[in-house]
Amino acid sequence: MPHLSECFSIADLRALAQQKLPPVMFDYLHGGSEDELTLRWNRDAFAQWEFVPRVLRNVEHIDLGTTVQGVQVGLPIIAAPTGMSRMFHYMGERAVVKAAHAAGSAYSLSTVSTVSIEDVAAYSQGPKFFQIYAWHDRKMVSDFIERSRKCGYDGLMLAVDLPTLGKRERDLRNGHGRPAVLRRNTALGALSRPQWLFRFLTSPKWRMANMTEHLPHRADALKVIEDINAQFDATVDWQRAEEMMAQWGGKFMLKGIQSVEDAILAADMGASGIIISNHGGRQLDGSPSTLSLLPEIVAAVGHRTEVLLDGGIERGSDVVKALALGAKGVLIGKAYLFGLAAGGEEGVARTYAILRDEMERVMRLIGVSSVSELGPQHVRRVKW
Ligand SMILES: Cc1cc2nc3c(=O)[nH]c(=O)nc-3n(C[C@H](O)[C@H](O)[C@H](O)COP(=O)(O)O)c2cc1C
Repeated sequence: MPHLSECFSIADLRALAQQKLPPVMFDYLHGGSEDELTLRWNRDAFAQWEFVPRVLRNVEHIDLGTTVQGVQVGLPIIAAPTGMSRMFHYMGERAVVKAAHAAGSAYSLSTVSTVSIEDVAAYSQGPKFFQIYAWHDRKMVSDFIERSRKCGYDGLMLAVDLPTLGKRERDLRNGHGRPAVLRRNTALGALSRPQWLFRFLTSPKWRMANMTEHLPHRADALKVIEDINAQFDATVDWQRAEEMMAQWGGKFMLKGIQSVEDAILAADMGASGIIISNHGGRQLDGSPSTLSLLPEIVAAVGHRTEVLLDGGIERGSDVVKALALGAKGVLIGKAYLFGLAAGGEEGVARTYAILRDEMERVMRLIGVSSVSELGPQHVRRVKW
């Protein structure tokens, strides 16, 4: 098995993560919905753009710093909210928030995290956002908003691409939603991953840490999957989103915008940001790649709200292309989870180091010394 220091790309980290995780966990991390078209398109879209390199431009010093939702970041790559991070490493969200902040970035905590809103805030002081859902249990959602406020989170992200769960067939086969089958399959797979198994057996139970007071079994993650899935509310509409935004009263992003029309509605609503996202290809299969939506959405609302993007980012060059096409910043999900599974906090730090190095290198090679200078003149569609 290679060491972290022998991982030179996100693909290397993915390969190491696969060797360390039980197959059930790797599938959950890596898989998409149905035929995984959108999962692939997210990546493929980056290959449809090439750079317009400029030379002789003094690129000794590269500045990757910017602001996202009013917070200063040292690089425009935010850790996206991902549920249940302790599945991938026993330190889970703690490892990620620490590494993201050490890299100069911001962190987003998922509602379905295995470390609570309060513990994450206590653990690392850097910029952070809380991802929220408009669930059936409005009292619980309202509590989340107040807890985030109390803990000084810098903004909320309302995930709007999940009126119901996508059909993730790897997870169905592995028994997600059927705790007994999941436990059996996880146990069988874990026998071939002794390091992971040891940590699983010797660390505290996984809990839906934000819901220990709201769900049965003190929100034991393996027992409440069905309770969580029952929370997704298909009646959610724009009015409900506005009510949540009004209760919060601060920076408020809609995560999961996938059309120009909805981007305009989000800007009309007064959202401070939108995240073009298809949940990393885990929800609607056949949803467009996020990068292909970016130019039109930026043209429509970029002057009224901050446009961010996630989905398929695995290279520093992907980030540079997204910024050139008008994104204020990007979020990464799988890229840091591969690092987390490969080596905990150090692994996430490796993810950030790889992406930073690649970004700086690309910026030098295209003749741009600061992200604020990036624009559509630096990329064009591949013609050949
Ligand atoms: C394992 C995993 C769990 C996720 N959990 C959540 C979640 O709890 N809430 C949410 O809004 N998005 C969730 N996402 C989606 C991410 O926030 C993000 O949109 C996506 O990962 C970006 O695509 P990428 O993985 O290709 O970078 C999850 C993604 C993954 C891979």
